[in-house]
Amino acid sequence: MTKDWTPATWRSKDIEQVPDYPDPAALAETEKRLASFPPLVFAGEARKLKRSLAEVAEGRGFLLQGGDCAESFAEHGADNIRDFFRAFLQMAVVLTFAASSPVVKVGRIAGQFAKPRSSNSESKGGKTLPSYRGDIVNGIEFDEASRIPSPERQEMAYRQSAATLNLLRAFAQGGYANLDNVHQWMLGFLSGSPQAERYREIADRISETMNFMRAIGINSENHPALRETDFFTSHEALLLGYEEALTRVDSTSGEWYATSGHMIWIGDRTRQLENAHVEYCRGIRNPIGLKCGPSLDPSDLLRLIDRLNPQNEAGRLTLITRFGHERVEAHLPKLIRAVEAEGRKVVWSCDPMHGNTITVNDYKTRPFDRILAEVQAFFNVHQAEGTHPGGIHVEMTGKDVTECTGGAARPVLAEDLSDRYHTHCDPRLNANQALELAFLVAELVKKHHAQGETRTAVNF
Ligand code: PEP
Ligand code: CO
Repeated sequence: MTKDWTPATWRSKDIEQVPDYPDPAALAETEKRLASFPPLVFAGEARKLKRSLAEVAEGRGFLLQGGDCAESFAEHGADNIRDFFRAFLQMAVVLTFAASSPVVKVGRIAGQFAKPRSSNSESKGGKTLPSYRGDIVNGIEFDEASRIPSPERQEMAYRQSAATLNLLRAFAQGGYANLDNVHQWMLGFLSGSPQAERYREIADRISETMNFMRAIGINSENHPALRETDFFTSHEALLLGYEEALTRVDSTSGEWYATSGHMIWIGDRTRQLENAHVEYCRGIRNPIGLKCGPSLDPSDLLRLIDRLNPQNEAGRLTLITRFGHERVEAHLPKLIRAVEAEGRKVVWSCDPMHGNTITVNDYKTRPFDRILAEVQAFFNVHQAEGTHPGGIHVEMTGKDVTECTGGAARPVLAEDLSDRYHTHCDPRLNANQALELAFLVAELVKKHHAQGETRTAVNF
């Protein structure tokens, strides 16, 4: 058990990004009710994810983390979940072949509802209202009533997360994730892509391997590994009252776990060492993520690592770097050197989304080229430092939205942005852009593999 910690000790710390609930008694009632509800995930699952991430930290695997910037109540349909899962699995298969090692699959889903904002208020047409903070807090509609934080939304978010998780578990274990299916979907994408030639080699290797396995009698009927997959959930642990209510003692280990999702992360705006979010996360035993933006210097990072992972347990901490495509070289090497010099075990993952947002025609967007450039720079730096580029963290959807510009398969142009701009927060890669990115990252992984990792030099 962590010393001087309970799920509520964060309450005595300074805190950023808190919603202004007009009725604290109603909020306390909701939190009390949530605390009596069943956990969404189990400690044993979180431990399994931590073991998989420990392998990634040691250089033997790759983390694929992705999903909506913000889930919404309005878009809670089976189709959305299925389409996301389908796009995500295709990415995972492409990366698995490229890496020849396991890909750890973690969705930003079934709990990704609370959003940090750069400003407490938003102005439009001469009117100023409190900012939208995600469906778990208030409504996105630009009117006074919608923007008032309402505690009942936490219960809706909990119930939506439970339903989403239920469907994801069915997809992951019930046959939908069958490798044959995923392979067929991927070939479908390639047949419509002008980039098909470039991706042909990986796709052919996958096809050949599938044929070979079938020929020797290995199929999804007799091998569960071909029809089932491990899929985990994650979200930013921003709304700490909600997180506290779902923090439970694991009966096997006697340790505290967040049961709102398998992995939770601390955002770039709430990672102050002495503040509430770090305090909450230090005491739970789940794998946790820490967003690392340009304002984080190496000594602060080391102090955060000490606080969040004092035992230096591999798999406990994933550093999710998000600098912007032109700033990776200026920031990443010094963080890596500090971590390496102290022998700290972490997973390095690249979020190429949050440092690359620009405004075009009044739409927040992210050019595909810049997203790719940040991932390339991330791989280059890890190659130079002899460390393992352990994963990517992306905002994506399985739908054909027009939120990020570019992509070669079916490019989204600046003038297309208004067509299907559906995100509740930041712009996401659509299904084609996401799969295209996976193929391009697969090339980087293979190149990295071929050049060899100087430090770990194992398998990948
Ligand atoms: C996010 O992941 O949606 C987010 C807000 O990221 P960051 O904390 O890195 O800005
Ligand atoms: Co975002």
